[in-house]
Amino acid sequence: MEAWGPSTYGDAWADVYDDLYRPDEEAVAACVAFVVEQLEDCPAGDVLELGIGTGRIALPLAEVLPSGVTLHGIDCSEPMLERLAAKPGSETIVVHRGDFGVAAAFDRGLHGAFALVLCPFATFFALPDSEAQITAFRNVAELLRPGGVFCLEAFVPDHARLHEEQSVLAVDVAADHVLLGASQYDRVTQTIESQSIRIGEDGIRLLPVRVRYAWPAELDLMARLAGLEPKGRYADWRRSVFSADATRHVSVYRSP
Ligand SMILES: C[S@@+](CC[C@H](N)C(=O)[O-])C[C@H]1O[C@@H](n2cnc3c(N)ncnc32)[C@H](O)[C@@H]1O
Repeated sequence: MEAWGPSTYGDAWADVYDDLYRPDEEAVAACVAFVVEQLEDCPAGDVLELGIGTGRIALPLAEVLPSGVTLHGIDCSEPMLERLAAKPGSETIVVHRGDFGVAAAFDRGLHGAFALVLCPFATFFALPDSEAQITAFRNVAELLRPGGVFCLEAFVPDHARLHEEQSVLAVDVAADHVLLGASQYDRVTQTIESQSIRIGEDGIRLLPVRVRYAWPAELDLMARLAGLEPKGRYADWRRSVFSADATRHVSVYRSP
């Protein structure tokens, strides 16, 4: 395989993404409702999804946004964007192709255009290191209107798992296939390199994932560096209380 780049994940997963992550309609609805509620508390402006992918969240969200609010999405993977473009409803979404973890990723004309920026599903951890993650926070701060919010969903790194250097898990075992997850952890760079390995009658398929995880407190610090203020943290899009047991979080940062 070529060296890992921003589009490696999307390019490798695009043709199976929708099947493997068949939308959990309840979870998608909770995310969409959360965004709509947050917007009620924001100045007027558009909405942007970082890592829009095939539109799992974006398509149902675009349907319920108040009139006059346009949904934008950025993604660096052409195959993911092609799948989005083939779906009904996608014509209402303004799509940007690019890497949201580099400076000047967005046209200056978009600065201050957004009431809300959304990054669901731990996509933020696809950014390769803390520098790219800090840059992404700065990009978001530039894009938001004063009073606008950044809603970020991520996992809470699991101390127990990270204690190991590697793991192999049987994710799905059925009569005609098995899905294994093989991961190596690097606690110095805070990266996890994984392969989802699907073995079936049609052969073996490798689906790579690389994440650079960050602790919730580290994300708060990155937000502060970019001039954003913490507004709220929940365990999920349903606003469950965030506690020490939470495995995921939805964090909301506000532009002053
Ligand atoms: C896990 S998918 C999530 C897609 C969608 N948000 C969802 O919830 O189903 C992550 C998406 O982010 C895109 N992505 C990853 N790193 C990116 C980057 N640095 N800039 C732009 N897009 C990126 C991938 O191509 C992929 O489409």
